[in-house]
Order: sequence, then C-alpha cells, then structure tokens
Amino acid sequence: MPAHTCALPDPDVAVRIHQALKTFGDSGWRWPSGPRTAAKVAVDHVSLNIQRGEIFGVLGPNGSGKSTLIRLISTLLLPDGGDVQVFGHDVVREARRVQTLINRVSVEASFFKKLSPLENLMYGARLYGLGAPEARDGARRILIRLGLEPAVLEQPMEEMSRGMQQKVAIARAFLSSPILLLLDEPTTGLDPRSKREVQTFVRELRDTHDATVLLTTHDMVEAEALCDRVAIIHGGRIVALDTPEALKAAAPRLNGHSPTLEDVFLSLTGAQLVEFVD
Ligand SMILES: Nc1ncnc2c1ncn2[C@@H]1O[C@H](COP(=O)(O)OP(=O)(O)O)[C@@H](O)[C@H]1O
Ligand SMILES: [Mg+2]
Repeated sequence: MPAHTCALPDPDVAVRIHQALKTFGDSGWRWPSGPRTAAKVAVDHVSLNIQRGEIFGVLGPNGSGKSTLIRLISTLLLPDGGDVQVFGHDVVREARRVQTLINRVSVEASFFKKLSPLENLMYGARLYGLGAPEARDGARRILIRLGLEPAVLEQPMEEMSRGMQQKVAIARAFLSSPILLLLDEPTTGLDPRSKREVQTFVRELRDTHDATVLLTTHDMVEAEALCDRVAIIHGGRIVALDTPEALKAAAPRLNGHSPTLEDVFLSLTGAQLVEFVD
C-alpha cells in the first residue's frame, strides 16, 4: 500500500495531490448529433504538496492545465484518477468540508457591481450562514483589516479600479478560516500598478494571516517575486518544481547570463511562455 494512504494527515500540509488525472472529451457522453472529439488530458498525473503558509505558484502557458488543476482542488471538477486532499480532506468524498476551507478567486471575479464592497461581502457572509448583523460586522472587520480605506467600503464596486476589485475578491475569501486561497491568474489583464498592488496584498495576507496561497500565472516575473516554490506545468505535466532560485541555479547559463525562469521553461520544454492576450 502506498505510504500516503495509511499516514495520518499532516497538519502542516495544506494541499496534497497524488497522481491527479483529468481528461476531457472521453466521457462516452455526447450530444446525439455532436462531433466526436479526441480525448484531451488536461491534468496528467500531477503530484505535489503545498505546505501551510506557503505561496505556491503554478506557472505555465495558456492551455497547460492550470485552471483545470485549480478546479480539481476547489471541487468544481471531479478527478478521473488520483487523490486530492485539502487540509487532510478528500475533495471527492468530503467535498462540502473542503468547500469551507477554500476560496477560489479567478480573473473574472463576479460581483454585484452596483453594490459596495461591504454589501458584496455581507452577501458572501450570508451564504456562509451568518446572520445580518454578524455578517455586517464580519465583513467590515475583514475589509478594514485587509487595508481597505473606510471611505471605499460603501462605494459601488463599478467605481473602483480593477486592482481594488481583486482585493475585495480576495478579502471575501477571509470569511472562513483556515483558508486556502486559490488565485487563478489574479493579475492577468491588470495594469502594472494594479498588478503590483495585488501582489503586495497577497504577500501581506500570507505574512499576517493563516493563509496558504496557490496561484496560477503565466508571468515569470510574478512567479519569481511572489512564490516560495513554483511548479512549471506544460501539457498538463509538471516539468519542474522547486524554489525559483533553485530552478534558475539548475538551468544552464546562457552566453554568460544568469538564466531567468523563462529560460528554465525554454530549456525544459523547448516552448515559449507566450503572454495570453485577453
Ligand atoms: N471544460 C472543458 N472541456 C474540454 N476541454 C477543456 C475544458 N477545460 C479545459 N479544457 C482543455 O484542457 C486544457 C487545459 O486547459 P486549462 O486548464 O484551462 O489551461 P490553462 O488554465 O493553463 O490555460 C486545454 O487544452 C483546454 O482546452
Ligand atoms: Mg486558465
């Protein structure tokens, strides 16, 4: 029996992924008149552990399986094989429990744009089963604690910058704890200034709260600046996993230059990490 199936859950491990597999297009089910599509392995036997309190980056080009991996962890998709656990709970057998421990924030975070951050968070708190007064107090406390100015708490979301909106989306995740934040390309499409704001905010969260962060990006600079460890993913497979420093140290030197993470990716896959254009 593999060791992981009989070991007690380790409280310091936030995410444990063992041989996760997700395939699209081979379920056997089709629209009766629809075309047959070839099976696509989106996540190909991925194994990794994320420590509690870590900022872990999944770095890869568009279509490499990053969002699918996040969806498996967040119980939005069922794996076709392997195990995924969040704080020791299985995403399939204990999906409801896992849902209370995670929060996924994607590029297109959804809000009621005419409502304020406070109202949006109160709505979220009510979904978690809090009463109205508790929800208001909880929402206000989280937003202030996370550094939002009191004045903006009651402004419509649509009047706020995209960077500020992403902060509110992340703040919403703090209605439950402990927390695994799943940030799917949290800075894609943001201007450089908003991008930096969100990155600083993510770092602050990790430093000051009991938050573990798994983020996806195709931005090497972001991965290097923000992540304790990075998994480089290509075609659904992990091709390297280590600290950014160790990954770069292991890559060959190019014309006397120190390699960047992009050079690491190139040397491992022969492919370019191309910026995705929205
Ligand atoms: N719901 C789906 N149905 C069919 N194919 C999908 C679906 N979701 C993702 N895929 C395919 O799986 C692969 C990985 O996609 P995705 O996880 O979205 O990559 P990334 O987030 O890295 O851009 C892509 O080839 C994509 O087309
Ligand atoms: Mg994606």
